[in-house]
Amino acid sequence: MNAENSSSYIPIVVILVISVIFGVVISSFTPQVFPTQASAEAEQVDNLFRVLLGIGGAIFFLVQGALVWSIVAYRAKPDDDSDAPHIHGNTTLEIVWTAIPAVIVFVLAVLSFQVWTSIREEKANEQIVEVVGQRFNWSFTYAIPEAMRVPDGPTSITVPELHVYLNRPVKLEMTTPDVIHSFWVPAMRVKQDLLPGRTTEVRFTPVELSPDGGFPVVCAELCGGGHGGMRSAVIVHEDEAAFNAWLENALPESGDPAGAGRQLLESGALPCAGCHTLDELGWTGQVGPPLNDVFDTAARRVPGLTAEEYIMQSIREPGAFVVEGFPPAMPPFTEDQISQQDLSNIVAFFRSLSADADDTSVSDEAADVDADETADIEAGDEAADEAGVGDDESADADLAAQGREFLLSSAVQCAACHTQDDLGWNGRVGPPLNGIYDTAATRVEGLSAEEYIRQSIREPSAFVVEGFPPAMPPHTEAMVSEEQLDAIIAYFRSQSEEAASE
Ligand code: CUA
Repeated sequence: MNAENSSSYIPIVVILVISVIFGVVISSFTPQVFPTQASAEAEQVDNLFRVLLGIGGAIFFLVQGALVWSIVAYRAKPDDDSDAPHIHGNTTLEIVWTAIPAVIVFVLAVLSFQVWTSIREEKANEQIVEVVGQRFNWSFTYAIPEAMRVPDGPTSITVPELHVYLNRPVKLEMTTPDVIHSFWVPAMRVKQDLLPGRTTEVRFTPVELSPDGGFPVVCAELCGGGHGGMRSAVIVHEDEAAFNAWLENALPESGDPAGAGRQLLESGALPCAGCHTLDELGWTGQVGPPLNDVFDTAARRVPGLTAEEYIMQSIREPGAFVVEGFPPAMPPFTEDQISQQDLSNIVAFFRSLSADADDTSVSDEAADVDADETADIEAGDEAADEAGVGDDESADADLAAQGREFLLSSAVQCAACHTQDDLGWNGRVGPPLNGIYDTAATRVEGLSAEEYIRQSIREPSAFVVEGFPPAMPPHTEAMVSEEQLDAIIAYFRSQSEEAASE
């Protein structure tokens, strides 16, 4: 009986031994497919992983081995229809299979905690870098050393890649303005979530020079349409001198708006690259409209808006001009996020990319048209004065005719959005303008029809009519002069009077 018992343990012992061997094999070979150990912390992390993998591998083969052995050794004979023995409870077995995992888990907890505290420990002489992860890019902000600062110049610089140098411990302070992201540098063996409303930290000490293009930085938390492209790189410089040389070179030169605009966009301080394509800067985002040739396109997008105005407003208030075929996904950028100076630098950069940059730009032509129209109307006024058109009624009729002519000219493009039967307009984007003078009088208490129309043209967002998008651009005096505005209003008033007299 005893001999029989002990002989039945032999296969179990064999499987145990084989399992342990497999565990050792898998834990020794798997780390070879890992990326290089580029940080001082990498070895600790890998060793811990090896222990986990060894134990996990042994258990995997133990379970699978027992399964395969049972299937082969205990399969039913073809003519055996009997039930297997009913077994209930085995105290020894239950103690064993509870105690062994408990010990394993406890050992792993202690080992993990040691590694965790060791890699998070504050190091001497840490280089602190502020990291912002937002949909869909990474940016890294460094304080500029006193010695490199220009008087009244910037005190920090933001760049799209993480620059560090050998053996200098780095501490990253990470924030996100939108959703959860995860900063992961496989080569450094660090991964840390960025959480809205909190600053999270991660530390590592680079010990290996980066290859061309740097060690990859990856976002490891699904954060939206551009998640897969939310990548950056860690560039490891040889020493402090090499790092400072890079920093010196990265500092903006003063007096070059297009250069400053380029630098800002390249820095990744703004998340444009995640959504837009711009070959010049190597952007490949697909969420929003491509920005190649944006300066030329912008000049044609909204009648009466120059390329500069269009680009600026598109950034401040992107909902105003959503490009067909793209979602209205872009957030507005306030002055806190992009200063007026930065905004004009960005526009200067786009202008510098324009093929027409040195020629007469489309926006200049549009301005010329405006000027011509103004001249026409002024000439008309003078002609009327000279002809001695004295009485108010015919002066009004004259002004109304000028307003009509102006609206029919190509100087303003109201027809694209508004319906006006008298002018043959059939736009559907904005409210119809038939009977506008009478409607205008009823729209806002305390405002006369004239005041309402005037303000609606100068500042359309003030009175958006229900059921219509706030799509109309404001028309400044450069686009519609006060005289032209008077003429337009006179024209609309003349329609109302006609209506009344009919
Ligand atoms: Cu950020 Cu995924």
